[in-house]
Amino acid sequence: MAETETAQSRTDFLRSLRAVREFKKTAVPDDALRDILEVGRWSGSAGNQQGAEIVVIKDPKTLNTIAGLEGFVHHLAGAALGLLIVMPGQWAEGDAFDEGRLAERIMLAAAAHGLGSSIGWLTGSGREAGRRLLNVPEGRTVRTVISIGYPATAARRGIRKPLDSIVHSEKYS
Ligand SMILES: Cc1cc2nc3c(=O)[nH]c(=O)nc-3n(C[C@H](O)[C@H](O)[C@H](O)COP(=O)(O)O)c2cc1C
Repeated sequence: MAETETAQSRTDFLRSLRAVREFKKTAVPDDALRDILEVGRWSGSAGNQQGAEIVVIKDPKTLNTIAGLEGFVHHLAGAALGLLIVMPGQWAEGDAFDEGRLAERIMLAAAAHGLGSSIGWLTGSGREAGRRLLNVPEGRTVRTVISIGYPATAARRGIRKPLDSIVHSEKYS
């Protein structure tokens, strides 16, 4: 029974992850940030190539500039910090998969520390502008920046399709 309770509390935690885009001014403690980055370091990658890199951005001026680039990144403006994911840019499909895994782990590790977070995607000219702004070498993929901070508001419940509408048993139809 105890094991079931542990599994349930763990899956409750995983299920509770919601995007948070409004943050308190409070800074993120260094050890919480370090722990989040360590979780990111242990994210799995295709062929264990570990191509992902992370730029930690704390300067509010830089965060404001990113928030103004093309994309859905306005929430960077109020964040305590931003984590930009840099991918190698040699294998688009693999990069996208590894990047998604890493982003989710970062968000879950942040939540474990009581921090809110949201993915922000740079689009169009925002990617090249972000790459230049943060001195990322040409050819690397700059797409995802995660805002992190203590939530200013309670997490929303979220909206999801019913399980029956997305899960098929044995065959699709
Ligand atoms: C690939 C991907 C790209 C996303 N891009 C953005 C984005 O650019 N800006 C943003 O605010 N949220 C972005 N999100 C967050 C989604 O809007 C969010 O996961 C979805 O609305 C569900 O939110 P909830 O988990 O809080 O219910 C992105 C999520 C994914 C998976």
